[in-house]
Amino acid sequence: MDRIIITGGAPLSGTVTVSGAKNAALPLLAATLLSTEPVELANIPDVADVGSMLRLLQRLGTATTHLPGEPGRVVLHTPTVLDTTAPYDLVRKMRASVLVLGPLLARCGKARVSMPGGCAIGTRPIDLHLAGLERMGAVITLDGGYVDAKAPNGLAGAEIRLAQPSVGATENLLMAASLARGETTLVDAAREPEIIDLAALLNTMGACIEGAGENVIRVQGVPALHAGRHTIIADRIEAGTYAMAAAITGGSVHLRNARLEHFGAAAEKLAESGVTLEATVDGVTAAADRAGLRGCDVMTRPFPGFPTDLQAQFMALMCRADGASMITETIFENRFMHVPELARMGARITVHGGSALVRGVAELRGAPVMATDLRASVSLVLAALAARGATEINRVYHLDRGYEHLEQKLGSLGAKLERVA
Ligand code: UD1
Repeated sequence: MDRIIITGGAPLSGTVTVSGAKNAALPLLAATLLSTEPVELANIPDVADVGSMLRLLQRLGTATTHLPGEPGRVVLHTPTVLDTTAPYDLVRKMRASVLVLGPLLARCGKARVSMPGGCAIGTRPIDLHLAGLERMGAVITLDGGYVDAKAPNGLAGAEIRLAQPSVGATENLLMAASLARGETTLVDAAREPEIIDLAALLNTMGACIEGAGENVIRVQGVPALHAGRHTIIADRIEAGTYAMAAAITGGSVHLRNARLEHFGAAAEKLAESGVTLEATVDGVTAAADRAGLRGCDVMTRPFPGFPTDLQAQFMALMCRADGASMITETIFENRFMHVPELARMGARITVHGGSALVRGVAELRGAPVMATDLRASVSLVLAALAARGATEINRVYHLDRGYEHLEQKLGSLGAKLERVA
C-alpha cells in the first residue's frame, strides 16, 4: 500500500491550478443517464471516485469516450440503459453511486440501488432521497440491502420539503424532476455551488430549472433531455485545502481557477485567523505570516456556511495558531477521526461531543499517521507540511479518491514529499 513521506518546514509558494470539483463531477456524470443523446463534460478531475462513477455508468450502458489530448474531457452516451441496478460492490466503495437512483427511475421507470450503509464519518442515511421520490409517485421497497424503486407510469411533479438541506437528496430529486410530469418545487433545498452546476448542465440539456442556489428550486418537467456540453466548476474544497496549506507553512499560493465567492464563510474565517485571500483575474491568492495565525471559532454549516469538508484542514491550521479555537461539527456525527492522529504530531485538542477545543502549539512534529477518510487524511498532509521532521502518511488511497495529482501539485509549490510504493 502506498505511503507519502513529507518533510515539513518549507513555505509553499507559486501557482497551483485548482482541478474540476469532484463533488460536482459525480452528480453531473450521473445526470448524463437522463438523455439518449451524447453529453460532453470538460474539467472532470482524474480522481478515484470519478473512476468509480465511470465504471458504474459503463455497467449501466453508458459509452464513455475520453477525447484524446484533452485530459478531463469525456463524452458520455447512453442510447439504451442496459441495466438498472447499481450493485453493492460499487456503492459500498463510493456512496455517491446512489446518485444514479433519480436518473434511472426517471428514465426507465425502475431502479435497484444498493443501500450505501454507514461510513467512517457517520451513519449517512438516504431517507430524504427516498421520501422525495415517493412524493413524486415512486413505489419504494427495501429488499436484500437494496432500494427497489418503481414508477411504471413515470414520475409526477410534487412539492417536496427537505427536513434538512441534503446535497445528495437535492441532486437526486433535481435529476428525477427534470423528466417528471408537471412542476416540482424543492423547498429548503441545498444551495451549494455544485447544485448550481448540476442545474446548469441539466438546463443546457433542455431541462427547465429555476432557483438553483436558492432555498426554493422550481422544475418544470420535460418529456426528454437532449445532448449537452458543460465545463465543471473548480473544486472549492481543493482550493480551500491549498489555501490552508499555504497558510500553515507561512507561504503564498495563487489558486488558479478558484472563485472567492465559492469559499462562503470559509473566506471570513480564514481572514479572521490571519490568512489573506485576494481575488485575482483568474483565481484567488492565499497568503499568511506563520507568526500571525490566530485562533478562531468555527461551526460547520450547509453552504454558504463553513463547509464540513474543510473542517479537518482548518483544525490542522488552528493547531499552529496563537490561542485557542473551538471547532464544532454539525453536519456529520463522527468527523473528528483526525484528532488522535494530529495529537500524535504534538497537537493539543480536546473533544467534547460535537466540539473540539484546539490549543495552538509552537511546533508540530513529524510521525507515522493514517486516517480513515479523505478530508481527515489531507488534514494530516497539512500538519506534516508545517511539522518539524518527516511524517509518513499511510492509507494514501483516501487522498487519491478526491485530490488530483496531490504530490505533483504540492511538489511544484516547494513542498518536500515523495510517494513510496
Ligand atoms: C455531500 C458531499 C460531501 C459533503 C456533504 C455535506 C458529494 C459527493 N459529497 O455529501 O463531501 O461532506 O455533501 O456538505 O457531494 N442526511 C439525512 N438523510 C438523507 C440525506 C442526508 O439525514 O437522506 C443527513 C446526512 O446524514 C448528513 C446531512 O444530512 O448529516 C448532510 O448530508 P448530505 O448533504 O446529504 O451529504 P452528501 O450529499 O452525502
